[in-house]
Amino acid sequence: MKAYVHGYSDMEADRLRDQANMLAGLLHPARPFPPGSRVLEAGCGVGAQTVILATNSPDAHFTSIDISEESIEKTREKVTSQGLSNVTPEVADIFELPYDDESFDHLYVCFLLEHLEYPATALARLKRVLKTGGSVTVIEGDHGSYYCHPRSEEADLAVRCLIEIQAGKKGNSLIGRQLYPLLCAAGFREVSVSPQMIYVDSSKPAMVEGFTRKTFIAMVEGVREEALALNLIDEETWTRGIAGLYRASRQDGVFCYTFFKGMAFK
Ligand SMILES: C[S@@+](CC[C@H](N)C(=O)[O-])C[C@H]1O[C@@H](n2cnc3c(N)ncnc32)[C@H](O)[C@@H]1O
Repeated sequence: MKAYVHGYSDMEADRLRDQANMLAGLLHPARPFPPGSRVLEAGCGVGAQTVILATNSPDAHFTSIDISEESIEKTREKVTSQGLSNVTPEVADIFELPYDDESFDHLYVCFLLEHLEYPATALARLKRVLKTGGSVTVIEGDHGSYYCHPRSEEADLAVRCLIEIQAGKKGNSLIGRQLYPLLCAAGFREVSVSPQMIYVDSSKPAMVEGFTRKTFIAMVEGVREEALALNLIDEETWTRGIAGLYRASRQDGVFCYTFFKGMAFK
């Protein structure tokens, strides 16, 4: 992975937690993982999804891995402070998984593939450690699915900066739309992908704050310095773009975004 586009700051850790909490109903399995099952959570970050997964499935065991030692330390602290005993946080690279073939009953992959140069290889490596008959859940966003009211050309340009910066690091923030072909190409069967649309207007103040502002706009704002340094946008247009995004979070504004949730079996 080239330098991770969102970085590992405390602010980004908070953003990941806001995102996970806001989207919990959308991103997590409707039913708990079965008692005794072993789940590999790949790219767990600071454990924002981990604590939700482990709380919802108290009788399953989670191995939650990330390539960042710092993030795994934060996951460890979070899991300990929540008193969760069904999680093993470990530093590991999904391209060199230190597990035997067919070690896990389920794989859970959330907001990881978008950061990888070789997402198809990642899925194939993950499939190796999944038991035959086991399931995989993959969740990714797609920044091409964002739109808002009132429309703002500058806001569109600011979002485009994030897409280009991530692409420059060999990631792909438009990957949500590719989940079906990626899972099929990796050899999974019974692949199904469901788009999960987020629609936010001011009748949902918690979503305005937690998703539009603290998840999406915060993520775009995070690439400000890089966008300006790379001359992808000038400062005035950037400022108007961010103001345009905030404008959509006001009383008469509307914000839309679609996540893609893929499910399949080995
Ligand atoms: C956007 S974060 C998502 C974290 C978490 N899944 C969530 O939804 O809050 C992506 C994470 O993937 C990790 N990552 C990137 N490449 C990886 C690799 N090759 N192996 C393991 N983790 C990786 C990054 O360090 C980062 O913490």
